[in-house]
Amino acid sequence: MNNGIIKFFSNGLPVGAVGVITRPRNPKGWKNSHFRENVILNHRTLRGYQMAIEQTLSIIKPDATRRNLTGKINQRFEDAGLRIVAQKRIQLTPAQAEGFYAVHSERAFFGDLCTFMTSGPVVVQVLEGESAITKNREIMGATNPAQADEGTIRKDFAEDIEANSVHGSDSPETAAEEISYFFSKLEIVG
Ligand code: CMP
Repeated sequence: MNNGIIKFFSNGLPVGAVGVITRPRNPKGWKNSHFRENVILNHRTLRGYQMAIEQTLSIIKPDATRRNLTGKINQRFEDAGLRIVAQKRIQLTPAQAEGFYAVHSERAFFGDLCTFMTSGPVVVQVLEGESAITKNREIMGATNPAQADEGTIRKDFAEDIEANSVHGSDSPETAAEEISYFFSKLEIVG
């Protein structure tokens, strides 16, 4: 019978993804009712602090591979705590570029975007980490480098809104689709 509590590390995070059940402890000698309330409160509060480990698709675009910026861009990801758990340098075919950007097929820039994305090698990669999707978008900066924050990849490296050096998934659903567009599960090693 589990009559214990969820065990926490001293930094407040639960041990293990679902917690490890241990025997109840009441080190402060509180009344039982106070002790129980505190455990429940802490459990709820700490669950709120847990951040999801996510994966996101990143592409280092032809303008960046042409200028030999792959290492500098990867350094930004790793410095921010993201892990590159899959990576390959490929030459996109027109069909691959059109398929990847199909969501933009009605946009005026679609043709130019696909021509640009096939103009040289790209590095496709899977980044993993806490809130990786949002974190990567923060590291990249705004789509248009003219509007990107200081210190972001696009502010520092992008040439213009099309040759904007990097792509990153914009939601968990898109990330799952985009990762599977380029990688099999066997190629992703966390
Ligand atoms: P990306 O994040 O890869 O997603 C779609 C891409 O279309 C975008 O980055 C830009 O490189 C490119 N693009 C070109 N023109 C525009 C535009 N006017 N608005 C948005 N994206 C554009």
